[in-house]
Amino acid sequence: MVRCIRVPKREGEQVRSALFSEGLLELGARIRADGDCLLIPVNCDSYQGYEVVDAEMQVQEQRPTDYRDVADVPEDLREHLPSSFDVVGDVAMIKLPDELKPYASRIGEALLKVNRSIRIVFEDHGVKGDFRIRDLERIAGTGTSETVHKEFGVRLYTDPARVYFNPRLSSERSRIAGLVADGETVIDMFGGVAPFGTVMCRLANPKVVYSIDLNPEAEHFARMNADRNHVDNLHPMTGDSSVLVYDLPTADRIIMNLPQIADRFLPVALDRLNAGGTVHMYKIIEREDFLPFLDGLVADAAARGHTISVEHSELKTYSPTMSVYSLDIHKG
Ligand SMILES: C[S@@+](CC[C@H](N)C(=O)[O-])C[C@H]1O[C@@H](n2cnc3c(N)ncnc32)[C@H](O)[C@@H]1O
Repeated sequence: MVRCIRVPKREGEQVRSALFSEGLLELGARIRADGDCLLIPVNCDSYQGYEVVDAEMQVQEQRPTDYRDVADVPEDLREHLPSSFDVVGDVAMIKLPDELKPYASRIGEALLKVNRSIRIVFEDHGVKGDFRIRDLERIAGTGTSETVHKEFGVRLYTDPARVYFNPRLSSERSRIAGLVADGETVIDMFGGVAPFGTVMCRLANPKVVYSIDLNPEAEHFARMNADRNHVDNLHPMTGDSSVLVYDLPTADRIIMNLPQIADRFLPVALDRLNAGGTVHMYKIIEREDFLPFLDGLVADAAARGHTISVEHSELKTYSPTMSVYSLDIHKG
């Protein structure tokens, strides 16, 4: 028998929510209907004058929400379990410190147990090479690393083991899509599976988006993303963008998401950008070096005959001393 209060159905949600926020809702049993009323399990003797009854109630399984609470690892190592991990679609990727590597599969099982939307878990050995691909090792779950990430109603097909994809840039993609005027020509110089291009074509109305990447796998997924999202103005291409841009029309907007070295490509981008256009560039840099870096960009552009102005924001911390910056570089 579980102690409950009998609450008219029309007041049920309001009372349930108030009980929950006051810590008085009994979470181990399910709320059920009783005629025109609800029986709401409580862990107190009375509540706001509602009738109190002891009733047979169905037990509600309480699921843990943090994998660290259920991971089967020695107690003295529990504090080393990472608090965060990446999820792309139904694929989870977690970086493990050396002392936890012997327990990788148990950690993977814990992630599967707690997060029902995760199908497979990989240990993430880091991003490598020109293609910025992750070195992944399966530690739990089934299937392959191919998956679908959804954002803003757009389905992005990708495979983190074959092509770079960053789910954490979704708000940047929506921000940039919001800046695109009708009929713009856009070039994404480091397009990957074309998440910027696909989201932009779905949320805005550019004339055309060229999405270039060195990695041929990126073109495969970019084509799939254009196709599955019914986008016909996205043109994926494979090759070195600093060469291919000279085969394309000049652009109103250029995206440069290669944050370690994108600035090396800025002279080419400014060369191919129409007056009044914008380059969206991402840059990882020591925080104390950022302002001199900005001054250098403006001076270097001026030396090449371009007047630019830069709006910037710090997107996220990259290391104790470095950050990732987003720069909107406007060409006069
Ligand atoms: C950080 S990823 C960004 C991918 C994509 N924009 C995204 O946000 O998911 C950088 C991409 O640039 C590609 N890349 C590197 N050098 C390149 C070049 N010279 N020309 C074209 N693509 C290049 C890599 O293969 C990689 O897919």
